[in-house]
Amino acid sequence: MINKITIEKFRKIETPFYYYDLDILRSTLDVVKKESDNSGYKVHYAVKANSNPGILKIISSYGFGADCVSFNEINAAIIAGFNPSEIVFAGVGKTDKDINAALKAGIFCFNCESIPEIEVIDQLAAKQEKTAQIALRINPYIEAHTHKYITTGIEESKFGINTWELDNVIKKLSDFKSIRLIGIHFHIGSQITRMSVFKSLCARINELQLWFSTHNINLEILNVGGGLGIDYENPDNDPDFHEYFSLLNEFIDLVPGQELHIEPGRSIIGQCGSLISKVLFIKNGSNTIFAIIDAGMTDLIRPALYQAHHKIENLTSSGNIYRYDVVGPVCESSDTFAKYIELPETVRGDIIAIRSAGAYGEAMASRYNLRDLPKSVFSDDI
Ligand code: LLP
Repeated sequence: MINKITIEKFRKIETPFYYYDLDILRSTLDVVKKESDNSGYKVHYAVKANSNPGILKIISSYGFGADCVSFNEINAAIIAGFNPSEIVFAGVGKTDKDINAALKAGIFCFNCESIPEIEVIDQLAAKQEKTAQIALRINPYIEAHTHKYITTGIEESKFGINTWELDNVIKKLSDFKSIRLIGIHFHIGSQITRMSVFKSLCARINELQLWFSTHNINLEILNVGGGLGIDYENPDNDPDFHEYFSLLNEFIDLVPGQELHIEPGRSIIGQCGSLISKVLFIKNGSNTIFAIIDAGMTDLIRPALYQAHHKIENLTSSGNIYRYDVVGPVCESSDTFAKYIELPETVRGDIIAIRSAGAYGEAMASRYNLRDLPKSVFSDDI
């Protein structure tokens, strides 16, 4: 809920902008901290969900690690206060430049997705006279039941090492002198709302863990990735971290001394962010009314790219209800936030909130049409 006092303050700020309610962020982080302290699981925040420096600073102050996919993310995380020794580096296409910089920075672990990648990390680590710790990202072949673009753990996905390659990987590992295998890593997709999916993942991890132990490989770390979804219909609902941690606790068989790592992104930052915009024009179509707002797909691409649903609220009207297509100013029809949705009577100048936009919102903004990047506003500062 965005309260009346805040809405009055919005009137004085140039739109569009991302508004972050830091009380919501902190209360989410308090819950995650409590659950991770109780369970002993290590949290690496997935920086790709939101790399705003102010946000990273708050998250790092909770003592979490960071999951990064480029050296720029690693650098942003270090600047924000994350300890390099608690940073993992993931991604199917790490460049030599990024691998070298990550080795220099002394990160905790590379999550590796192919044999050629491990070979390159070994060579580059050898040149720096270092040993790189690695985890194998394994494709567990589990359907995440989410949008196909964010499903990552099924057969012929570009992600992860196939289980039929594992024998070969193990054989090769002894050739790599500058690599130390410390664990296995998984990430099957994002915006996962069926808890049974995580249960299947746990069962698969237990099987793989057995496979490694029969090959006399001791895994220090099991990393289950991220993926916990949020309730886009009800932006004021928090993700159920207790259920998630309890499920992991019940279904993953950790061996003594082994650590469990998780990489939540969306579930941490999604619900505290809203994209705030103003209505520019109301325009009648043949069968619809368009509310043209000053935020576009360049500010929030999720509806255009994944047909994602975000709840839209008119914060400044309480008139009769009509139906609108809420669209942005960018020169393509995909620049549509929602079709035929109910809003109170909407006029030029009304303030619109697109909710649940904290994750993969600002982080995916672009300058298409040479539009300005959206600014960010923190509740603490207004
Ligand atoms: N770990 C790895 C290896 C990942 O690839 C991701 C996200 C995460 C953790 C964090 O997942 P989360 O907890 O946020 O679901 N742009 C898309 C989402 C892409 C997710 C990519 N990987 C969207 O807007 O829905």
